[in-house]
This record gives sequence, structure tokens and C-alpha cells, in this order.
Amino acid sequence: MDLFEYQARDLFEHYGVPVLAGIVADTPEQVRAAAERLGGTVVVKAQVKTGGRGKAGGVKVAHSPEEAEQAATRILGLDIKGHVVKRVMVAAGARIDREFYISILLDRANRSYLSLASYEGGMEIEELAVERPEALARVEVDPLTGVTAERAEAIARAARFPDELIGKVAPVFERLWQVYRDEDATLVEVNPLVLTESGDVIALDGKVTFDDNAEFRHPEHAALADAGDVDPLEAKAKEHDLNYVKLDGQVGVIGNGAGLVMSTLDVVSYAGERYGVKPANFLDIGGGASAEVMAAGLDVILNDPQVRSVFVNVFGGITACDAVANGIVGALTTLGDEANKPLVVRLDGNNVEEGRRILAEAAHPLVTVVDTMDSAAEKAAELAAA
Ligand SMILES: Nc1ncnc2c1ncn2[C@@H]1O[C@H](COP(=O)(O)OP(=O)(O)O)[C@@H](O)[C@H]1O
Ligand SMILES: [Mg+2]
Repeated sequence: MDLFEYQARDLFEHYGVPVLAGIVADTPEQVRAAAERLGGTVVVKAQVKTGGRGKAGGVKVAHSPEEAEQAATRILGLDIKGHVVKRVMVAAGARIDREFYISILLDRANRSYLSLASYEGGMEIEELAVERPEALARVEVDPLTGVTAERAEAIARAARFPDELIGKVAPVFERLWQVYRDEDATLVEVNPLVLTESGDVIALDGKVTFDDNAEFRHPEHAALADAGDVDPLEAKAKEHDLNYVKLDGQVGVIGNGAGLVMSTLDVVSYAGERYGVKPANFLDIGGGASAEVMAAGLDVILNDPQVRSVFVNVFGGITACDAVANGIVGALTTLGDEANKPLVVRLDGNNVEEGRRILAEAAHPLVTVVDTMDSAAEKAAELAAA
């Protein structure tokens, strides 16, 4: 889960990372009132989960409450890279002397954490990485020891901060690490971290991504989720604890086991090339493919208006094929009229003969049983194109 900037700001404040005052607002009138409360120069900032808001006209300086209100009318409703602005944050204006960059992130390739830092911030980090890679320090952060005072100093030095600033930025790095560790984040980024004209170091923009796998340790994170932001099908799948990812095609895919589903997506993509169709989703119903789980999975997929056919690819293991076949038959009964798209079923593994017999006996008009994965993918693609 990604946080909005204002949520990251609140979190930073809680951990003692220096930030400026910020008030969220949903209307120009609220923005005006917020600017009055803050006083002086403020910055009105679009709250959307994408970067580059400044360049897109989503960050505006205002010298009075009237100006702030005007800025808000221009920012609210703005489309920034496909994200429509519904809320802004009115932030106290900083007098910036210099802008820096700092982030801590998960480094999957090295099975470790990584800190990226630069004394030359203010620029998009992807640009900096390409144009002046030598200005961007990459320092490994050991997950067990983290960013100690010593490590924080090493990061600041590697990023070429001058000596007199190291004592100021290093403690901020340590606190950002505490956010990263204690909140189970996969990314904490501050761009820009600034030095103000009065010599303070402040996080002016924040990006935080939580690790969804650690959700169970953070019931408090649920309150930060953006209800308007989730795909309704993904939300429904989540309710049923299904591993579902919506894709863009027409062939719905259900399988048991992430590896099997991944390879099913491959064969469907391959077979689909000839028919101009693609997989519509990833859906792993896991080990126990009971009728309820199968019904929940089919329900999610059949509710995707783009889906034209469904490929059910199950390998019977501990849950044998006969149980899965009963699950499919039961699910179709449960769904009744809602099951309205052709299903291609391929079963293999433990007790496959009995599974196929159950499906043959049920003889549901929407179900075609195909023996091999490739032919089943072919059939499902053909049906989706029909
Ligand atoms: N509170 C603030 N006071 C002064 N300038 C700001 C403030 N917030 C942002 N800025 C300026 O606007 C630029 C872009 O804002 P930022 O929050 O980084 O948005 P984004 O990264 O989405 O463009 C910053 O690099 C900074 O120069
Ligand atoms: Mg930024």
C-alpha cells in the first residue's frame, strides 16, 4: 500500500522526522481557511499517489489565503498521470536553500535493503540516476543492524554532503530508517529533503510504501487505505482471501498454486495470440479448492465485464481432483444464472479419473473438459474470441 504525501508527513512527524505543518482540504474554501490558520506563504499540493506533481501543475505557492483558494480551484480536479486530484494539502512554505534526496528501499536482487542518497536533489531521481550516476550514492543497509548513527554518517558521506551538514542530515536518516523498520515499509523516500535558509533540515515531500505481507502486524494501517482507490474486483477477491490480480484481457484464469497460475497465464497468452485475446487476471485459489473457494473465485472472474471465457486449471494434490470437480459443480450450482460464460476445465493429478467422471456426469452446458493444459488454453482462447 502506498501512502498519500499527507499521510507520510503525519507518520514522519510521529517518528521525529522534521516536517512542516500541513492541513488537508477538499474544497477551495477549506484551503483558504487552512491558509489563514497557517499564516504567511503556503504551498498548495495535490494529493495523488504519483510523483512529478510539481511539473504537472499540482504544487503551487500562495502568498495569501485568497491566492491559496485560487490555486486550489486550479489543482482540484486536475488529472495528473491518470490520477484525478480530490484533495490537497496546504503546507507551510519553506524558504529553500538546497534540495537533497534520500530513500531506503527493499533491494530484492541483493536480498537486502538499500539506501539511495544524493546531495544533488530536486531533480527526478530516475533522471539523476541516468544523467549523473556518480552523484547518487547507493549504500547497502543490513536488515539486521539497519541505519545506525555510524551507517547514517556513511550514507551522508557517500552522498557527498559537506562536513558541516553531515551532523544535521544523519539523524534524519536514522529516523527514516525507524519509520522503514517499525512500519514494515518497502520504500521510504524523501524528495526533496531540504536545507532551509535558516539552516534547518526538513522533509518537504514523502513517499511511503508498506509491505502488504506485514499487514497482520499493523491493524492501524487499515485506516490509511484509500477506499476509492481499489479495484472493486480486487476488493471482492480480498474479502475472500483470494490472490487476485486484474489484468487486461478476455480469458479468465483460475488455478491452484501461484506457479501453476503463472504458467497458465503464459500458455493463454501464447494461444491467445492467434485469436487476439489475452489473460484477464491472475487468480490463485490455493491448496484447498473447495466448492466455496471455487464459487468465490468464479464469482470474482465472472463479474469482470471484459471476461469472455474462463480457464480453470487445477492440479490435484492434497485436495484431490474429485474434490475439485465437486467444487466446480457446487460453485456452478451456487452461482446459478450468474455463471454465464463458458468454462474450460483441465484437471490433472491425484484422482483425476474420478474428477473427470464427476464433471462428465454433471454435464453442465457451460463446461468443456480438456485433458491437456495447451489444448485447454487453446479452447479457452477460441471461446473468448468467438
Ligand atoms: N512546503 C513547501 N515549501 C516550499 N516549497 C515546496 C514545498 N513543498 C514542495 N515545494 C517545492 O515544490 C517541489 C515539488 O514538490 P514535491 O512535494 O516534491 O512534489 P513532486 O515530487 O510530486 O513534484 C519541491 O521540489 C520543492 O521545490
Ligand atoms: Mg517530490
